[in-house]
Amino acid sequence: MKHVKRLYGTLIFLFAFLIFAFFYVGHQQQAAHNKIPKVGVLQLLSHPALDQINKGLDDTLEKNGYKNGKNIQIIFQNAQGDQSNLRTISKQFVEDNVDVAVGIATPSVQSLKNATSTIPIVMGAVTDPKGFGIVPSNTHPGGNITGVSDQAPLGDQLKLMKEIMPNIKRLGIIYTSSDMSATTESKKMKKLAKAQGIDVDLVSISNINDLEQVSTNLSQNVDAIFVPTDNTIASGMKLLSSVAAKRNVPVFPAADTMVKDGGLATLGLSQYELGQKAGEDVVAILKHHKKPADMPVTFIKKGHLIINQKMAEKLNITFPDSLVQRAQKEGRIIK
Ligand code: TRP
Repeated sequence: MKHVKRLYGTLIFLFAFLIFAFFYVGHQQQAAHNKIPKVGVLQLLSHPALDQINKGLDDTLEKNGYKNGKNIQIIFQNAQGDQSNLRTISKQFVEDNVDVAVGIATPSVQSLKNATSTIPIVMGAVTDPKGFGIVPSNTHPGGNITGVSDQAPLGDQLKLMKEIMPNIKRLGIIYTSSDMSATTESKKMKKLAKAQGIDVDLVSISNINDLEQVSTNLSQNVDAIFVPTDNTIASGMKLLSSVAAKRNVPVFPAADTMVKDGGLATLGLSQYELGQKAGEDVVAILKHHKKPADMPVTFIKKGHLIINQKMAEKLNITFPDSLVQRAQKEGRIIK
């Protein structure tokens, strides 16, 4: 009889313990769940290049085991190209106490930089981080910012233009005056082209509404047009290329995604790859507790050859056979 009582006692104790353990573990899991890392992604505006960067970032986080909503919270915000949106969203990320903030395009990163000097910031492609005063050094950033540069291989891009148009005499370059990244690349390309004996017409727009008029004028005076990684013109590539095509003028853009939207050809960086590299930086910070101060800025040297066969036909341009073969082998042909 005594034994039975003791057995009951033990069983009741065990039962109570199990119930306690059940709720305790549940509570712990809940606490862990509340502590999943938060990543704030601030994209300047939507155009195919920046969208690809964001996709590369997302895919890389997922590949490294981060499932949005499960063990990571990705807060994505698009500023629609608006300065006050940039400021509001940056402040919100700081209030939300995100673990890492990613800025896609220069103005996003500048706005995040103004909002915090402690939360790690990853640049999802800023052309010239040191030149723009975002980091004091690309090799030793020193502060809370690191990431990826999308500096285009301009020399190779000029070579490609000459390969397709050996008799090019006059090159038009168009950019948006408020876009730091586009302004620097335009000036560099002008220098490179002039050094090759090509005359350059450098023109700027102040916003997208100027694009049609300015590009109409420009295409009357030049053999080809180069567009740098310009956030405004990247969203107006279709308009620019159709305006130029009316005058039989090809457009050579700096980024791969811009060929698909009507550019003739480029040897450009893969925007998706830029996003992947930014994603790797986020993983290094979250998983391996690396500090942006010690993480050098990533530069990608190798461009991908992309040629637009459809545009070439429209413009009556024939690509050299060797170029088509190269594109078939290691690049992409848009048909
Ligand atoms: N370099 C741009 C900046 O610093 C952002 C950017 C990346 C971009 N890839 C692009 C712009 C392609 C236009 C096209 O703001």
